[in-house]
Amino acid sequence: MAANWAPDSWTSAEARQLPEYPDAQALDAATRTLSSYPPLVFAGEARSLTAELAEVAAGRGFLLQGGDCAESFAEHSANNIRDTFRVILQMAVVLTFASKLPVVKLGRMAGQFAKPRSANTEVVDGVELPSYRGDNVNDIAFTPEARVPDPQRMLRSYAQSAATLNLLRAFAQGGYANLHQVHRWTHDFMGRSPWAQKYSEMADRIGEALDFMAACGIDPASVPQLAQTSFYTSHEALLLPYEQALTRQDSLTGDWYDTSAHFLWIGDRTRFEGSSHVEFLRGIGNPIGVKCGPSLEPEALLRMLDTLNPGRVPGRMTLITRYGHDKIEAHLPKLVRAVTREGHPVVWSCDPMHGNTIKAATGYKTRPFDRILAEVRGFFAVHRAEGTHAGGIHAEMTGQNVTECTGGAIDVTEQSLADRYHTHCDPRLNAGQSLELAFLLAEMLNEEMAERRKAAA
Ligand code: PEP
Ligand code: CO
Repeated sequence: MAANWAPDSWTSAEARQLPEYPDAQALDAATRTLSSYPPLVFAGEARSLTAELAEVAAGRGFLLQGGDCAESFAEHSANNIRDTFRVILQMAVVLTFASKLPVVKLGRMAGQFAKPRSANTEVVDGVELPSYRGDNVNDIAFTPEARVPDPQRMLRSYAQSAATLNLLRAFAQGGYANLHQVHRWTHDFMGRSPWAQKYSEMADRIGEALDFMAACGIDPASVPQLAQTSFYTSHEALLLPYEQALTRQDSLTGDWYDTSAHFLWIGDRTRFEGSSHVEFLRGIGNPIGVKCGPSLEPEALLRMLDTLNPGRVPGRMTLITRYGHDKIEAHLPKLVRAVTREGHPVVWSCDPMHGNTIKAATGYKTRPFDRILAEVRGFFAVHRAEGTHAGGIHAEMTGQNVTECTGGAIDVTEQSLADRYHTHCDPRLNAGQSLELAFLLAEMLNEEMAERRKAAA
């Protein structure tokens, strides 16, 4: 257990990005209610995820983390949850087949409701109002009342997270994740896509492998695991009053766990030295992530790893790098060398989204798909050169057919962004772009594995 730590010890450190609630009593009432509610996940599940991530850190697995930039109350529906879950499964099948490695599936779902912002205020047509900070904090409507932080929103986020998690668990365990079914969706989807040709060979080989297994009597009827999967949840641990209220002591081990999700991460804006967020995450037993952007120096990262994972527990730490397509090759090698030199076991994951956000001429925030792919290629190239495992991908994506990121085989143009631009925060990959990314990742993982086999021979 972490020394000199308590669920509220973060309150004496420097907190950035936290809302100022106008009514302290209302905040107190909301967090007290939340503290009395049942946990959303239990400690044993978080430990299982740590064990799976330890395999990834050792080069024997791949982490697939994805979901909305920001979940919202308005878009809470079974269809949205199902479609995102389905695309993540489809991506996982493609990645598993290519790499022959188990893929850890981790949704940015069931709790991703609080957002850090670059500016405290936002100006529209000459009117300045506090920024929207996610549905857990205030409302996206551009009115003074909507933007006042309301602690009652935490209770609604909790309820929505519980409902989402309940459906995800049902999908993962209840037969919806049937391997044959998942591949059939990919196949049907590809039949409608102009880029299918490029990847049809891999898709056909997956189909053949499944047919071969079925002929040998290995199918969901005989091996129920083929109709089930494990699926974990994650979000940025930003709104600390919410996270603290859901932090509980595990009765089996006596350790503290943040039961709001299996995995929590610290954002790029809140990972500075002396941060409240680092102080909070230091003490919880869950596996955790840290976003690493261009301003993070190797020495600061090493100090942070000593703070967050002094016992060097494999699977505890995931480093999510997010530089931008033109910066990754300049920045990532020095972090990789420092971490490797010090022997810290980490999962290296690539967030190709947050360093590649631009403003389109039409005013929309967007991300060109080719820059996303370029950052992923840079990530694999650096890890190959350094002899480390390119261990994961962290994507903002949805199963819906939105038009938020430009490019992709079914081209989204700057002009078509307006057609279905629904995100409450950053632009997400749509279902087609997500699958296309998976096939590209599969190619690169395949190369990494071939190289490893060569080196071992
Ligand atoms: C995010 O993941 O939505 C985010 C805000 O990322 P970062 O902290 O890397 O900017
Ligand atoms: Co984002």
